[in-house]
Amino acid sequence: MSKTRIKSIYQCQQCEAESPQYLGRCPECQSWNTLLEKKVEVAKPGATQTTSTKRFTLDDLATPQLLQDIRLTDDMLRYSSGYPELDRVLGGGFIPGAYLLFGGDPGIGKSTLMLQVAQHVANSGKTVLYVAGEESPLQIKMRADRLGLQGNRILVFPETNIYNIMEEIKTSRPEMVIIDSIQAIYDPDLTGTPGNASQVKECAGKLMGIAKALQVTILLVGHVTKEGTVSGPKLLEHTVDGVLYFEGEKFRSLRILRTVKNRFGSTNEIGIFEMGESGLTEVTNPSELFLSESSYRNDPGSVIVTTMEGNRPLLVEIQALVGFSTYPSPRRVANGVDVSRLHQIIAVLERRLGLDFSKHDVYVNVVGGLRIQEPAADLGIALALVTSSHETAIKPKTVITGEIGLTGEVRPVSHYDARISEAEKLGFETIVLPKMRKPPEKASLHGIRRIEIGSLMEALTHCLDQKRRLPQDKVRSEEVVTGDESHAAFH
Ligand code: TYD
Ligand code: MG
Repeated sequence: MSKTRIKSIYQCQQCEAESPQYLGRCPECQSWNTLLEKKVEVAKPGATQTTSTKRFTLDDLATPQLLQDIRLTDDMLRYSSGYPELDRVLGGGFIPGAYLLFGGDPGIGKSTLMLQVAQHVANSGKTVLYVAGEESPLQIKMRADRLGLQGNRILVFPETNIYNIMEEIKTSRPEMVIIDSIQAIYDPDLTGTPGNASQVKECAGKLMGIAKALQVTILLVGHVTKEGTVSGPKLLEHTVDGVLYFEGEKFRSLRILRTVKNRFGSTNEIGIFEMGESGLTEVTNPSELFLSESSYRNDPGSVIVTTMEGNRPLLVEIQALVGFSTYPSPRRVANGVDVSRLHQIIAVLERRLGLDFSKHDVYVNVVGGLRIQEPAADLGIALALVTSSHETAIKPKTVITGEIGLTGEVRPVSHYDARISEAEKLGFETIVLPKMRKPPEKASLHGIRRIEIGSLMEALTHCLDQKRRLPQDKVRSEEVVTGDESHAAFH
């Protein structure tokens, strides 16, 4: 007689709370109509506890061993993805047994990246199993042709049943498995359609087991869903060894690979790619991509700032447009910078310099589609706002760096040398930096002119291009409300 019986429970697809009976509203997260039936195996009363029968076991492979006895073999050494940009983000390449998630919006280029990586790994003599859950082998072949890939040593497996996938991994023993995508894979033992929370979790859990047991690198592709990534990558973040997000705007070619978790390396690094006619290419000198001829001119409202992405300095152009508003409450639009940061900078400009933006719409944009996360761009944003509202400009070939404090002081930033070198390398003549208590040792070695400033006021005094200032009578009085200090700076 069987010692177990099958029982129905109801699980919320949003928060995974369970209930013994069907409820219209989840008692945990209060979502409506999210409970789905799930069959579970439970022990009959009095029976000794048994684990559920599994179709696939790894018993022979998983045994405890002494840590001191575990040997790192050559096989465990990292191997390259073929792309230094990706290798750096991974912390030096792939590791056998690593279980990684590549998330991103649909259409951003995840499958393209996976196929390109697959070919590079295959070219190094490894076998790659490409599990196609969403596309037919023919579609994948067409993509490979477009990318100019041969497809040798890449096994394309159109399958969505998790057990068949696991059997195939066990049989063909590839070094790398790509699951495109995890939301398409299902476990026939569970109710619920592929992509729902319990299906995704269950299938991902099974794949993790196999990655570790067979020391195979498994890459999961996961779509970010509109509703806050519920059954997507967020759900898996704690399960996997690393989470990489592929970001960018669909109608722009720039793609950024960002890590939010990495058990094998830093989460600071980003990889920059460009999507072209024949796939993704690495951008090895990103600053060049973000700057144009006009960036060196510094038109009104345009400022070049330094920003660190991991350990890499980038020069990017910030543009601002300040114009008279016809809205009852003026607009504040920030693309690529945090809008609350923009509000803070505007508040400091109003309070410390006496400028008035209360009747003006403010638009700020980071050229090239990059998102700036560090506050070292503050001063640049502030100067872009000031030069736009006053139709003036900062001196040409000048790079601006500094965080602004609430009292209008300019605060020190990290990675001085790297920022200075990058500005110099790209042909800028002056870099404006926060005053340092102790200047970095290497700073004096640079040929570029350094202007060290301690406050917003000092920055304005030193940075504004005298030739570009308009006579006072040409500046519309509504646009410029000056206090004593700013008066001194501008007129
Ligand atoms: P894809 O890799 O299918 O995206 P995802 O798997 O993230 O959904 O890429 C889709 C987009 O990329 C599609 O709009 C076409 C574009 N693309 C190129 O621009 N160049 C290329 O070489 C390829 C293969 C795709
Ligand atoms: Mg895809």
